[in-house]
Order: sequence, then C-alpha cells, then structure tokens
Amino acid sequence: MSAPNKSYDPVEVEALKPEEIARRRDEALAAIAAAGDLEALREVKVAHTGDRSPLALANREIGALPPHAKADAGKRVGQARGQVNQALKARQEELEAERDARVLVEEAVDVTLPYDRTPAGARHPITTLSERIEDVFVAMGYEVAEGPEVEAEWFNFDALNFPPDHPAREMQDTFFVRGAKDGESSNVVLRTHTSPVQIRSMLDREPPIYVICPGRTFRTDELDATHTPVFHQVELLAIDEGLTMADLKGTLDHMVRALFGEGMSTRLRPNFFPFTEPSAEMDMLCYVCRGESVGNPDRPCRTCSSEGWIELGGCGMVNPRVLIACGVDPDKYSGFAFGFGIERMLMFRHNVEDMRDMVEGDVRFTRPFGMEI
Ligand code: DAH
Repeated sequence: MSAPNKSYDPVEVEALKPEEIARRRDEALAAIAAAGDLEALREVKVAHTGDRSPLALANREIGALPPHAKADAGKRVGQARGQVNQALKARQEELEAERDARVLVEEAVDVTLPYDRTPAGARHPITTLSERIEDVFVAMGYEVAEGPEVEAEWFNFDALNFPPDHPAREMQDTFFVRGAKDGESSNVVLRTHTSPVQIRSMLDREPPIYVICPGRTFRTDELDATHTPVFHQVELLAIDEGLTMADLKGTLDHMVRALFGEGMSTRLRPNFFPFTEPSAEMDMLCYVCRGESVGNPDRPCRTCSSEGWIELGGCGMVNPRVLIACGVDPDKYSGFAFGFGIERMLMFRHNVEDMRDMVEGDVRFTRPFGMEI
C-alpha cells in the first residue's frame, strides 16, 4: 500500500489515476483476446484478476482514501474490473465452444464402418506343434501316416511284441472296449500309443518306409496338472537297408535343432520297449540353459531342474520280431523308431504349466498362440 494520501485526492494515488486504470484494463482485455486456448486463458485470468493483479492491488488502495473520494475511485476500478470479468467470461465461452466442436470432429466414430463381428479364433497349439513336427520330417522325405484311435489289440500290443500275458502290457493303463456280451472281450482298445501306426504302415507299404505318425492316444489317467487321459503322440518309423542307431541319433539331433535351434542335441539312455531292440530313452539338451546349469549353483535352471537334459520319449531299433510280424525281411532291412508326447513338448516349449489348460478349450489359453498355419 502507498503512504497515506495527504491531499486526499485520489488522482494523486498513482494506481488509481483514471488513465492508469484504463491502461491496466486495456492490457487485460488485450491479453484475454490474445489467449488462444483455455489453458492460456486460465493464466491470463490469474494475472489480471487474481489477488496480485494490478486492478486488485489498485482496489486495495481505495481503503486509504477519504470517504468522499472513495466512491469515485471505487466506481472507476469496479467498472474496469467488471469489463475485464465480462471479457473473460465471453472468451471462455468462445474457447469452450471451439474445443467442443474440435472434440466432436476428432472423436467421431463412423458407425457405418464394418466391424469384426466374429473374432478370429486360434488353432489349438497341440495341432500347430504337431504340424511343425510333421513339417520337419516331410522336408526330409517322410510321409505322414495315420491310424484309427479305436484299435485292435493285435496292432496296439501283439504285433508290437507285447505277448498276451507279458508284464509289458501293464506299462500302459489301457481303456478296453467292452465286448458284445458281458464278460466277452472285444479285443479292441483305445490305442495307448501311436506305435500301432508303425505296424499298419509296414503292412501297407513296401520298404523303404519313412513315416511320421501324429495322433491322439488314450490311457486311464486322471486329469491333473501333469496327466490327461486323452493326449497326443508323434511316432516315427524308418525302414531301409543298412539303417543303424547312428541314423536314429542323427535324425533325433536334426529334429531338436529344427524345433529348438542350432546347438541343440539329444542323448540316449538304455531302456526297454518290447518293440525295439536295443531300446533307449531319449533326452534333449535343455533348450533354456543348454546344459550350463549343471554343477553351476549360480545359474540354476527351473526348466531342467539343473539336470541339463529334458526327457523326451522312447526310441530304438525296430525289433526283428516286429519286422517279421509285418512281413519285412529282417535279414535285408533294419529300422529305427521313436515316439514322444506332444503335450509334454508343448509344456516345456511354451512354459505351459498345467495340462488342464490344454484340454479345457478356453479360448483365453489358445488365443495367444495365434493363427499360425
Ligand atoms: N510307444 C511308446 C510309449 O508310448 C513310446 C515309444 C518308445 C515309441 C520307443 C517308439 C519307440 O517308437 O521306439 O511309451
């Protein structure tokens, strides 16, 4: 506030001079007109009508005037402030109208455009992965072979060298199809593996035979995180002159490299299957740590439990008894075979943790795998 006004003349208070008030008012009106958007106008409003604005400060000077001068000065300042407020209000309305018109244009939705009424689904990853595996072998000249899911016991067991009361039959928990009469056997089962397609392929073809057999298989397991009674396998069979276990090993190595990338390999561990001799369990190098977690506590691997290897399935040289059952001369031909579960491969290839996700048919599970064809 300035010093008390000795002459009591409002004209002598600088801020209350008529031309000073008019100048301040005109400044405010120019700033209001120049504000290009609501944000700028907000700043103008604070600068020209706020507590520290020139006109507000001038208004405070009025209190120091003698009563007769107050009315005059009050009227001048009041009018100026009124004009500024009015201009502000008008500009505010103008800018709001401009903004609304712009938003209407920018956010307009063309409701006449066509839209995707039926969202594209996704293929089940088991299908996609089976096809990828098939592709690896088709590229090498293999043929895709298929067989029935409801299968004669002879194909599922006998021809594969599982004798009727052989304990090896117990290796696979079988769904038996009931016979026509109570207590009568139908000799038909839901196939427990894709190996019977080996038999069908040999009976249907003359060697050399190179087939890859994907398909659905069944065992009496309860559905839980790691088991499902309906699952999928891929079987491979090669019959030719002079095939050895080295061919089997090379084929397996090629497959894991094609599916998981360069630097991958497999290893074989002795095992028993009635239809192969010798038989082996096949492991593949852990595709996450590539074996580097072994003996390396600083770099543990959850995928292979720091074992370095992941169990894939079974394999071996086709047992001559199987060749004979299928009319293939074991003195002239030899063969190798392998089989593994696709669900298991999907689990570790795509970090699927629960088998139930694969069978429940929820699109939220399949959608992230997309429409890969
Ligand atoms: N059929 C076997 C199973 O389901 C897997 C298998 C093992 C397939 C050895 C083969 C093989 O072709 O040679 O347990």
